[in-house]
Amino acid sequence: MTTTTLIDGIGLLYTGDPDREEITNAALVIEDGLIAWTGPAAEAPDADERMHAGGRAVIPGFVDSHAHLIFAGDRTAEFQARMSGEPYTGGGIRTTVEATRRASEAELATHAFALVEEMRRQGTTTVEIKSGYGLSVAHEKRSLEIATALTDETTFLGAHVVPADLDADSYVRLVAGDMLEACAPYAKWVDVFCEPGNAFDGDQTREILASGLKAGLGARVHANQLTEGPGVRVACELGAASADHCTHLSPADVDALASSETVATLLPGAEFSTRSPYPDARRLIDAGATVALATDCNPGSSFTSSMAFCVALAVREMRMTPLEAIRAATYGGARALRRTDVGWLRRGARADLVILDAPSYVHLAYRPGVPLVHQVFHGGLLL
Ligand code: NIG
Ligand code: FE
Repeated sequence: MTTTTLIDGIGLLYTGDPDREEITNAALVIEDGLIAWTGPAAEAPDADERMHAGGRAVIPGFVDSHAHLIFAGDRTAEFQARMSGEPYTGGGIRTTVEATRRASEAELATHAFALVEEMRRQGTTTVEIKSGYGLSVAHEKRSLEIATALTDETTFLGAHVVPADLDADSYVRLVAGDMLEACAPYAKWVDVFCEPGNAFDGDQTREILASGLKAGLGARVHANQLTEGPGVRVACELGAASADHCTHLSPADVDALASSETVATLLPGAEFSTRSPYPDARRLIDAGATVALATDCNPGSSFTSSMAFCVALAVREMRMTPLEAIRAATYGGARALRRTDVGWLRRGARADLVILDAPSYVHLAYRPGVPLVHQVFHGGLLL
């Protein structure tokens, strides 16, 4: 026999469902780990168990669609140097590669697990995890094996930077060949840091993504983070699920994103931690692009695991409204991962939800830095 649970007394339910995004004085029913019903509390059906949310707001669990959690070591010194005026170039990636290669599998797994737990406590119920700090066949494969134990959303990012001991052409051949073959069984996605001069150029990105697509993976791109490069163009051309960063966009890039299925994933934690100008979210939203927010959690450019912090930055620094920001952190993240079972609370979706210690999701930006997560449900289970 299945048990149904009714949560009522919800002051404001943000559903993430474009058909009915907000419901005041709401309730919802969970059955078999899924959402069975949402609506006004006065119309709620009977259920086996009942919980009262005490007037608090409820939101879908955050969908963090961009994170680099398989790494060892720490880049505090690089951060300190940046805060004294040094620019961010991505060169520090190689420092993390050295530390990651030296670490044992158990060390990497324990550390990544702790980061996922840290995310969950802050309301993230779906997280994408990239490799990219191994940069050899064995080390990339090991990173992805660890990631598959933590999430279904695993991304092969062998093309993060060219490792110190190889030239770019040989490395691109390796990534698109033997490395991809070894990693594809553990990956859902392939990603490239497209940044001519610092990482990979447009042609190299195209070649690696095309090989990944041929191997059955979906594409995503680190695009236009440091310069107005070709990343967004290539992402849209190849039908990538997401172009991430989008910090420096030409009018043609904005048009391409607005007229494609490629989500513009904005990572304001990176601009915060590298003291860079924020992406122009207004221009993207007003043009009609689908926007997601994610943490980019990594030891170099954005060592935060807090989606709430990213929502606050998006509102204050990127002129997104609180509604646009919560939408991007839930529904938008799910679109960026091409998922329809998470990121919203409607009949049939996974019962991933957060009860906030606040009357509205607006408090995520209005009360920045305050731990507002009261309870988290993942697949209908209270964490
Ligand atoms: O998304 N830009 C490339 N990759 C990461 C940074 C990685 C690092 O600095 O270690 C990013 O910001
Ligand atoms: Fe990243």
